[in-house]
Amino acid sequence: PLVLHVLGARPNFVKAAPVVSGLSSIGIRQGIVHTGQHYDALMSDVFFADLGLPEPVANLGVGSGSHARQTAALLTGLEEVVLEHSPDLVVVYGDVNSTLAAILVCAKLGVPTAHVEAGLRSFDRGMPEEVNRVVTDALSDLLFATSPDALSHLANEGVDPARVHLVGNPMIDSLFSALPKLDPAPVRERLALPERYGVATLHRPANVDSPEAARELVDAVLEVSNRVHIVVPLHPRGRTRLAEAGLVSGENLSIVDPLGYVDFLSLVRGAALVVTDSGGVQEETTMLGVPCLTVRPNTERPVTITHGTNRLVTPALLPSAADKALADGAATPSGDLPPLWDGKAGPRIARVIAAWLKGDNLSP
Ligand code: UD1
Ligand code: UDP
Repeated sequence: PLVLHVLGARPNFVKAAPVVSGLSSIGIRQGIVHTGQHYDALMSDVFFADLGLPEPVANLGVGSGSHARQTAALLTGLEEVVLEHSPDLVVVYGDVNSTLAAILVCAKLGVPTAHVEAGLRSFDRGMPEEVNRVVTDALSDLLFATSPDALSHLANEGVDPARVHLVGNPMIDSLFSALPKLDPAPVRERLALPERYGVATLHRPANVDSPEAARELVDAVLEVSNRVHIVVPLHPRGRTRLAEAGLVSGENLSIVDPLGYVDFLSLVRGAALVVTDSGGVQEETTMLGVPCLTVRPNTERPVTITHGTNRLVTPALLPSAADKALADGAATPSGDLPPLWDGKAGPRIARVIAAWLKGDNLSP
């Protein structure tokens, strides 16, 4: 049998690596299809190198565009590649447009699919990712959940529980594998950062696409940078808009290119504080015990609040929340970390897939 993984964007690579390695250790034939949704070396190649991912069997080079244009290019490109390879299973990850397109293509071609990170819900249909999650879960044959709340969301949407498997979080497997390599000192030196610093990542459309939202957010981040030096490895999406709103390097603020996986997590590991709107970063800070302020009105990852270091804040409340987080110091992980975030999600997923390929009864 052949398993294809469809990957397109930065967080996909991090989630897929442990699954690829899990399947590889039980001898299952597999290949990666890179859609090319992310294509800059710092958004893509560096992750293949840092995570030890094998070369893709195809790169569709779809690139950027409006949702319709990008999704259309993904659909036509993926249909061809799926027909060419006739996989027995296609595995998709997370909530990006590449994930949505792959699930639609496979559903129409009658090719079975598995969704890793199923059942997360922000209940905010204004987020493109929420639309992608709902459609992907409705069409997947096998659903791998990272946290227990996902099980009830899927049940409420009428997904047959026999198809759902709570397996833990492969993004955390990747973090565990990288841990021995995470050293803040060399990155801090290279970026000329003081010993005490915070890290910010910002790329959600709701935060960076409109000049008004960008301005409000940038004002808040500038205020935080008066308390602690802030380094912002800036996603290409927000580059222009946030710079126009005043997010430029200065005495207390370093705006830098996106960082590779190991460099980024090294920096996070040594940070006094993280400010973010990323999904994955909420999870990683929870595991590393670094206080995380998420500038969003909601999160599809509530376990990072109930079992972790995450707090939701508005831009207006960010400075005072940062003051408090900095005063409280490092949040010690409570010992009550999210269930099954133990670095073994990849092998669990691989075992379920292997059994499914053999046609075994898969009731959880
Ligand atoms: C996508 C995902 C988002 C995820 C993020 C991870 C969707 C709908 N969104 O958002 O859920 O959190 O990836 O990083 O799939 N660009 C470059 N170089 C690149 C890639 C993008 O310059 O390698 C720029 C382009 O101007 C592009 C913009 O970033 O138009 C947005 O890229 P896109 O892939 O459409 O969405 P993201 O904002 O990256
Ligand atoms: N990340 C990285 N370099 C950066 C910013 C993020 O390696 O400069 C990693 C981060 O550690 C996490 C993943 O990228 O593993 C999250 O991706 P992103 O925030 O782009 O997407 P989201 O999780 O919001 O979908």
